[in-house]
Amino acid sequence: MAYETNVPYLQGMDDTPLSRSDAGADASALVRLTKVNKHFGALHVLKDIDLEVARGEVVVVIGPSGSGKSTLCRAINRLETIDSGTIELDGRRLPEEGKALATLRADVGMVFQSFNLFAHKTVLENVTLGPVRVKGTRAAEAKELAMSLLERVGVDSQAGKMPAQLSGGQQQRVAIARALAMKPKVMLFDEPTSALDPEMINEVLDVMVALAKDGMTMIVVTHEMGFARRAADRVVFMADGQIVEEADPETFFTNPRSERAQDFLSKILTH
Ligand SMILES: Nc1ncnc2c1ncn2[C@@H]1O[C@H](COP(=O)(O)OP(=O)(O)O)[C@@H](O)[C@H]1O
Ligand SMILES: [Mg+2]
Repeated sequence: MAYETNVPYLQGMDDTPLSRSDAGADASALVRLTKVNKHFGALHVLKDIDLEVARGEVVVVIGPSGSGKSTLCRAINRLETIDSGTIELDGRRLPEEGKALATLRADVGMVFQSFNLFAHKTVLENVTLGPVRVKGTRAAEAKELAMSLLERVGVDSQAGKMPAQLSGGQQQRVAIARALAMKPKVMLFDEPTSALDPEMINEVLDVMVALAKDGMTMIVVTHEMGFARRAADRVVFMADGQIVEEADPETFFTNPRSERAQDFLSKILTH
């Protein structure tokens, strides 16, 4: 079905059994990238990326356009393959394909810049579809979960509407509820507010801050420094496919060490 291409956890399902044979010995990091490299043709977009995200940690990824932030996110739920290095989730290497890959994608919630809701399904159906189809959750249970998540993101009163009847901010909050309905271990956000009208940005960021405070492990690509200051444990600055600098938000924003970060911050602070 057409909508399957939009949503990672609905892709690539078959009956390949889950394998635990490659379980790592040390599972303390929930997400671990080791020496990850990725090329698009001649373009080297991820260069020896080492990144560990602990359970419950909130990491903000920031950096100029084209620095590889989206590719990094997409590699973590295997929407992109990598050329070398390893990516582990909860101590296990990312599976290549099959049911294990579908499971991985259920474990990694993703919210994109464009809301990607199923246009011909109601808000409620958008949130129940994954649990019912992928996890085999009973309809009544999926509905109950969906309503509680829609309430949590403040759009439960819109449950019967179609996505197009909602504002961008409401749609993005539905997208967050939809990702949460899969009970993911980690949530990835790729510039979730950059397509929104300014007055809707905070309603989405507030939901994300609440999620962070609830202990969700999050990797958030955003230039919203207010969010980083309120919610991030760590800021990772990427440029030209590399992690150039990482620090706690206060240190990074007030005292960036690298010239590239200083240059980048001066640009986003002055426009
Ligand atoms: N599917 C693709 N094919 C070829 N080049 C790509 C593809 N996706 C991204 N790129 C290139 O890879 C680089 C990194 O892109 P991206 O990860 O989207 O950066 P960011 O999210 O930081 O703006 C850019 O130069 C971009 O043009
Ligand atoms: Mg991007």
